[in-house]
Amino acid sequence: MLHRGSNTEWLRSASLDFNSYVEKRVGVRERWGVPFELFWFTSHEYYIGSLVIRHSLTDDEGGGHIGYHVVYPWQRQGHASQMLRSELVKCRALAIDRALLSVAPDNLASLSVVRRHGVVPDGTNHEGDIRFWIDTSAAD
Ligand SMILES: CC(C)(COP(=O)(O)OP(=O)(O)OC[C@H]1O[C@@H](n2cnc3c(N)ncnc32)[C@H](O)[C@@H]1OP(=O)(O)O)[C@@H](O)C(=O)NCCC(=O)NCCS
Repeated sequence: MLHRGSNTEWLRSASLDFNSYVEKRVGVRERWGVPFELFWFTSHEYYIGSLVIRHSLTDDEGGGHIGYHVVYPWQRQGHASQMLRSELVKCRALAIDRALLSVAPDNLASLSVVRRHGVVPDGTNHEGDIRFWIDTSAAD
């Protein structure tokens, strides 16, 4: 049977043993050939969204340093803007002086989010996403 939306199989392992599910995801891990960290944003018992910081860029710089999403019921309430603001401080602490973000040209929501941060556009990546640099020294 076909289901719309994302594969939710991961929820099964999370619900069977949530503590070890979290344990495996905390801290610096390696993916895409680079070290990265995953952050979950919550409000009380509710999951709002996630943000990933790659500590270094992949060879093709494709995904940039930062990626994020906010789940549907929590969108358009300023959460992504707040998440990005707080994570730019972490980037600065990691000595990422300029953070690279890549955004699809038709992703109006994400374009609004990144443009709040005095971004410097820098062409497009191999997928046609617009590359933006954000100076993290101003993050607070
Ligand atoms: C992009 C995304 C993270 C934005 O999250 P959010 O919490 O809704 O963002 P904010 O509430 O901080 O909104 C930021 C701005 O985008 C605008 N916006 C939000 N959704 C929008 C939409 N569907 N169309 C147009 N503008 C939109 C908001 O109005 C706001 O702008 P404003 O304050 O100038 O009005 C969310 O839509 C999402 O998870 N999308 C799918 C994953 C994704 O695209 N991730 C980013 C990849 S680069």
